[in-house]
Amino acid sequence: MTKLTAAITAVGGYVPEYRLTNQELETMVETNDEWIRTRTGIKERRILKEKGKASSDLAIPAVQEIIAKKNLDPLEIDCIIVGTVTPDMIFPSTANIIANKIGAKNAWGFDLSAACSGFLFSLETGAALIETGRYKKVIVVGVDKMSAIVDYTDRATCIIFGDGAGAVLLEPSTDDTGILDSILRSDGNGVDYLHMKAGGSLEPASIETVTSKKHFVFQEGKTVFKHAVAGMADVSAEIMQRNNLSSDDVAWLVPHQANMRIIDATANRMGLSKDKVMINIERYGNTTAATIPLCLWEWQGKLKKGDNIVLAAFGGGFTWGAIWIKWSYDSQM
Ligand code: UT7
Repeated sequence: MTKLTAAITAVGGYVPEYRLTNQELETMVETNDEWIRTRTGIKERRILKEKGKASSDLAIPAVQEIIAKKNLDPLEIDCIIVGTVTPDMIFPSTANIIANKIGAKNAWGFDLSAACSGFLFSLETGAALIETGRYKKVIVVGVDKMSAIVDYTDRATCIIFGDGAGAVLLEPSTDDTGILDSILRSDGNGVDYLHMKAGGSLEPASIETVTSKKHFVFQEGKTVFKHAVAGMADVSAEIMQRNNLSSDDVAWLVPHQANMRIIDATANRMGLSKDKVMINIERYGNTTAATIPLCLWEWQGKLKKGDNIVLAAFGGGFTWGAIWIKWSYDSQM
């Protein structure tokens, strides 16, 4: 029997208009452009400013781009998986809201919470559905409106995050391209270092949780940084090793964009020069689940059929992982 793999056959992306620059942050908290650039690599991030707009409003244009490019009838979409930690509401799922708004009336779907690894975990899940042979068209989204949960008086966290969305279409492939291997990990011991304290069943929203700022991202940056450097580099090197991929074989590294120094450490471990690494952190900052699909979106014009691509992420949970893809089409761009 021919082996089915899941191929990415289209990519879409969206970032909101508003640019929150380092210079504007200097007017909000005690920080400076030089510190932010040298410690993180970020110059600006995009923010969804309009009231009444949510993660689904970021994701829908990304998915619509795919629908337009592939001339896809939304009724053909089987499933929508949304990696996010900033869903429109705790329930129902953002996937449900997106499906309704784009007219994907035959699709089921769900949100997947894995913080910065949300896109990788969602991609692996979507690929598994395709490999069963029962699903022909699965949309995988990575989206976060981090500005909804960032404390803009906390200089240690507000400088890194931004808003954005990216999406891919997965379809079955029989030509040995597509998603070929993955190493995904999680470790609940990391929960203390990166989390949102309230709003869940442990500490439901109350006046006390709001006044003590428990609905914002809490991050112990240094500890997360240390784990991220080791975790992301380890799985990236391991996925190369176990698939006999040399640094010459790898066309692109697509790293989660949390901090330029974490990206550099991963690329160094893989023996890759900078020109093989997708980097847009300077313009978008850390958009959590959206960083990796946003890179694919921006670089899609350069991707060729057969390119070996390694996606890698590390984030809250802790969660981390790497995925090896053999790219499935020559770009029409
Ligand atoms: O996305 C997935 C998970 N997240 C990550 O991967 C993020 C990992 N962590 C990081 O990227 C870094 O830890 C940060 C960028 C968040 C912080 O950088 P750092 O180099 O770890 O800084 P730090 O927290 O150790 O602080 C160093 C110094 C401190 O001053 P002292 O105590 O040395 O005098 C801070 O108070 O820098 C100070 N500082 C700042 N100074 C200017 C912290 N934030 C700022 C700031 N501007 N925004």
